[in-house]
Amino acid sequence: MLAAKRIQYHRYGGPEVLRLEDFVPPQPGRGEVLVRVKAAAANAMDWKIRNGELRLMTGRGFPRGMGNDFAGVVEAVGAGVTRLRAGDAVLGGTSLKGAGTFAEMVIATEEAVVSKPAELSYEQAAAIPVVGVTAFQAMRDKGKLRPGQAVFINGCLGGVGRTAAQIALTFGASVAGSCRATDVEEARELGIAPIVEFDFDAARLEGRFDLLLDTAGTLSATAAQTMVKRGGRILDIVPTPSKFARSALPGPYRVMMGRPNPEDLAEVAEMAARGRLRIPIARTVPLADAIPVLTELERHRTPRGGKLIVTAG
Ligand SMILES: NC(=O)c1ccc[n+]([C@@H]2O[C@H](COP(=O)([O-])OP(=O)(O)OC[C@H]3O[C@@H](n4cnc5c(N)ncnc54)[C@H](OP(=O)(O)O)[C@@H]3O)[C@@H](O)[C@H]2O)c1
Repeated sequence: MLAAKRIQYHRYGGPEVLRLEDFVPPQPGRGEVLVRVKAAAANAMDWKIRNGELRLMTGRGFPRGMGNDFAGVVEAVGAGVTRLRAGDAVLGGTSLKGAGTFAEMVIATEEAVVSKPAELSYEQAAAIPVVGVTAFQAMRDKGKLRPGQAVFINGCLGGVGRTAAQIALTFGASVAGSCRATDVEEARELGIAPIVEFDFDAARLEGRFDLLLDTAGTLSATAAQTMVKRGGRILDIVPTPSKFARSALPGPYRVMMGRPNPEDLAEVAEMAARGRLRIPIARTVPLADAIPVLTELERHRTPRGGKLIVTAG
């Protein structure tokens, strides 16, 4: 196998550990596919992994690539792969440990990869996996959202937040949410009402919601409990050890982790292909120029208003 470029690091740390280097992609193992990456999307988990915050799960092996979401073309398949073949246009995600989509080539398991709908560009498809599957599972499986119910999304214009808002609306629910004062108009255009600013007074929304999704992880237990109806659910996607402990107690509060699932990913991609879900792209940058742009996103949360996409090939 020839060498390929990828953004990788040789120890856990801040953005300064990132390098664009050659690596030799392995042959795909049993159940794996090797994908020639066309586009990859940045997510907050990328720097949590690189910082070593998840090292219990990601281990000590280096060098390690960065990036989990991708879209591209299958280059080769390993033994036992039945759904995909070389030449297929696909989108998918890597495991936490197998990160490395800011690259020309990446290995993923067949289970985490689905065909790319022709209506979506590689850039649009790459934006979907992490935020799409997390939002979908939050609304359908963990939130058990039904038509006519009311959901509140804290951080309703972030990647997961705006995706969850659109999915909830297609489910026939009403969606309220919080965002910055400068972004209220954008939230209104998505169909979100009422819209409140980040420092809102929870008491003014007492007992209103069947489901509360906290994508910023900033709502206090008291505020969240105030806002949900009796029997309502609270989902927090920004875990900490103390939140996991609280999540194990009886009551409405649960920490939620999205789980890769090909059926869910295919369904969300189909929603996007049919125009029922739009994940905006704030900026596209080629792999060769990506490290400073990824660092800017991590440090200063810019570009805002959509996903940062790294293109390769
Ligand atoms: N558990 C899981 O399975 C899972 C899956 C995906 C992501 N995550 C985690 O979930 C978080 C959100 O992911 P994402 O991709 O949606 O990130 P994102 O695009 O950065 O969105 C975060 C949102 O929270 C908003 N926000 C910031 N401070 C806030 C505050 N004080 N009150 C209310 N909202 C606030 C941000 O607004 P501004 O942009 O205006 O600052 C932004 O809209 C990240 O920590 C990520 O690691 C977890």
